[in-house]
Amino acid sequence: MKFHIETWGCQMNDHDSEKLAGLLLKEGYESVDTVEEADVVILNTCSIREKAVHKVYTELGYLREMKQQRPLLIGVTGCLAQQEKDALFKRAPHIDFVLGTMALQQLPKLVEEALAGHRRVIDTEDYPDNHLFPPEVTQRRSKAKALVTIMEGCDHACTYCVVPTTRGQERSRPVDDILAEVRLMVAQGFREIELLGQNVNSYRGGCSFAELLERVSEVDGVEWLRFTTSHPMNFTRELAQTLVSNPKVAPFLHLPVQSGSNAVLRRMLRGYTVEEYLERLGYLGEGRARFAISTDIIVGFPGETDEDFEATMQLVEQVQFDTSFSFIYSPRPGTPALRLKDDIPHAVKLARLTRLQRRQTEITLASHQRIVGQELEVRIESQGPTDHGYWMARTGQWQNVHLVAGEGRQLPFGGLTRARINYAGPHFLGAELV
Ligand code: SAH
Ligand code: SF4
Ligand code: F3S
Repeated sequence: MKFHIETWGCQMNDHDSEKLAGLLLKEGYESVDTVEEADVVILNTCSIREKAVHKVYTELGYLREMKQQRPLLIGVTGCLAQQEKDALFKRAPHIDFVLGTMALQQLPKLVEEALAGHRRVIDTEDYPDNHLFPPEVTQRRSKAKALVTIMEGCDHACTYCVVPTTRGQERSRPVDDILAEVRLMVAQGFREIELLGQNVNSYRGGCSFAELLERVSEVDGVEWLRFTTSHPMNFTRELAQTLVSNPKVAPFLHLPVQSGSNAVLRRMLRGYTVEEYLERLGYLGEGRARFAISTDIIVGFPGETDEDFEATMQLVEQVQFDTSFSFIYSPRPGTPALRLKDDIPHAVKLARLTRLQRRQTEITLASHQRIVGQELEVRIESQGPTDHGYWMARTGQWQNVHLVAGEGRQLPFGGLTRARINYAGPHFLGAELV
């Protein structure tokens, strides 16, 4: 039997797909690259915004046609599966099985039952040991960086967000389990580790998140350490100290602010003011100059006035985020913000988003231009040069690099090399080997 997994959403979902693939490979299934070749197709879904959900239903429509022509098992996993549960079968009766985000290890059982002819197979239970997934089973897709779960779920209650429902309550993996997985990753050749959680700052698996970073960085062979995502509410001085003082921590901090208006932040229940956000960024001290700072912003949240939006623009000017990810507010099922009136015309939301993104592109470009002329360590992220003749690489600050290495030159995939930055665009840097 051949299976194919399509993945939407965040790194947590990418990593879940690596776990799901591992479970099926262990049972003797074969992994294939396209839907067309597969006997079993799994859609690992996201429901963070309406658009993400649309993409899933579009794909399901395509698969329905395919299923009319040949035998095909269709499974839905991920956040949409957890949110909709058996309602998915009503909406798309050609789905064979539904697997929740907290029941990953049940996948082989579900596939087997569906293959045996059972219809509407479903497991969306909350298994308390879901986060204790055996790391040797995981089938890593990226060779440049190993994703390692440190916690699952989210105990925050941001009023716009589905994640607390789709991923359940916070649970942390014990430190020793994490360290064992990191050692295994290094033994498999990984040099860069990304620690994953919806809210890594509230990690409680036996030490603080700051201490966890220290301990992971002490594992022999770890060169760069990244993490995602960090919530400003639990961003402590201790953590900032670790970030700036530990040379293994890559100089990149993603700290989602969501809005520059205190009134909006209050209605979002984010748990901090703009002033507190700035204060916490300030914890980085002089070390901050070395760091790229990234953020998430939602525009058009219910009741966002022109003044509120101007406050967001002002914050963007003040902080000069190196990058930001911005979205139009999307009303989500079961979230408290549904009780607020979604009162801003779509055209206004779109105009705000466009203005914010244009300005961000300029700021990002300026931040890239400051790097031109520098010599940096970059990690090689392609197996060879692209058709355009350059290798793909990344800086510690997470910028994309197009690296020209010279005819016939071989570079170590996943390894570090020194490069001189000689070009800056808004989306990537150009570089040559030193
Ligand atoms: N746990 C992370 C966020 C994960 S979701 C954190 O709190 O930092 C990633 C981003 O999607 C959020 O930061 C937010 O900007 C955006 N987002 C979440 N729900 C949304 C919604 N209903 N509409 C628009 N954007 C949303
Ligand atoms: Fe969603 Fe807020 Fe939790 Fe992030 S912290 S996942 S935005 S509820
Ligand atoms: Fe999407 Fe779920 Fe991640 S909603 S962003 S896949 S946690």
